[in-house]
Amino acid sequence: MARVLHQNDVRIGRPKMNEQITIFVGPASLRLGAEVCEIMRTAPGAYECRRFPDGEIQIDIRESIRGRDVFLVQSTSPPVETHLMELVLFADACRRAGAGRLTGVIPYFGYARQDRRTHRRSLGARVAADLIGTAGFDRLMLVDAHTPSIEGFFGIPIDHLTAVPLLARAVAPSVHENSVVVAPDLGAAKLADRYARLLEMPVAIVHKTRFSGREVATRGLTGDVEGRQPVIVDDMISTGGTIEAAAKALAAAGALPVSAVVATHGLFVGDAGDRLAAVGVRRFLVTDSVAPPPELRLPVEVVSVAPLLARAIRHLHEDRSLADLVSHD
Ligand code: R5P
Repeated sequence: MARVLHQNDVRIGRPKMNEQITIFVGPASLRLGAEVCEIMRTAPGAYECRRFPDGEIQIDIRESIRGRDVFLVQSTSPPVETHLMELVLFADACRRAGAGRLTGVIPYFGYARQDRRTHRRSLGARVAADLIGTAGFDRLMLVDAHTPSIEGFFGIPIDHLTAVPLLARAVAPSVHENSVVVAPDLGAAKLADRYARLLEMPVAIVHKTRFSGREVATRGLTGDVEGRQPVIVDDMISTGGTIEAAAKALAAAGALPVSAVVATHGLFVGDAGDRLAAVGVRRFLVTDSVAPPPELRLPVEVVSVAPLLARAIRHLHEDRSLADLVSHD
């Protein structure tokens, strides 16, 4: 009887893993990856990322990784296509170079928002997951990916880390007795509930409709916000449209000015900075899963996820539990 070969069966080289660890810092995550290496007191793995004149990318691993426990830190942040392609080519290079085990550490996973099909549109999260899942990784680490059910998109195991406790601790000084945690759309309701439990605050939810990548509108809100100080929480800020619309809806409902906006991933694309500056929020708290644009003129405070990633890498390498570091939602 013919044997059905799964993609994993034809992967190139799967040698026995030795005790040594190598961390590669991908082009998309230079600063964050360097910080992870510093915490782990290890020099980043040597490689070259080349561009051919026609735009093709090539990854060249410049040291032996045979049998090693290899980690690659690379967000699929904008420019998404470039960073995604670098990620999968990196995985292929590591696999072909004989890595014993290969873990992709993807602090920000772009394409995760395309997790449901509407009309005749492509399903980006599934396609990106297929691409990454067949590139040669043994497992992945993500941080607060857009949907908690993201693991279901992949055929390989995911350790879904969370920065929520770190961000909750950082925003705590802005929280008072009359504060309220606000989810700027229904999708963020569970996330808001997690913050609310950590900060011991009530929750409100803004009802949002999205028209395009940039344009959203609100249709009222659920919860008591009148005379209260909102703290808006979300998984990410991209164009800033969601936060802008939520802040307007809160003002219209009689809330005090927004005291803080908290999001794991601060992309701040296009004119997000100007758009959000006009909203007049006192604090924006994001992590360094994506480096904020240098020209951004907003009161942004960056909470580093480097210690979280370093700890997760260490635990995985030593076969220790990651239970305290992952999201259980
Ligand atoms: C949407 O479901 C997400 O959780 C965010 O609310 C959204 O992606 C933020 O994007 P933008 O800043 O462009 O409104």
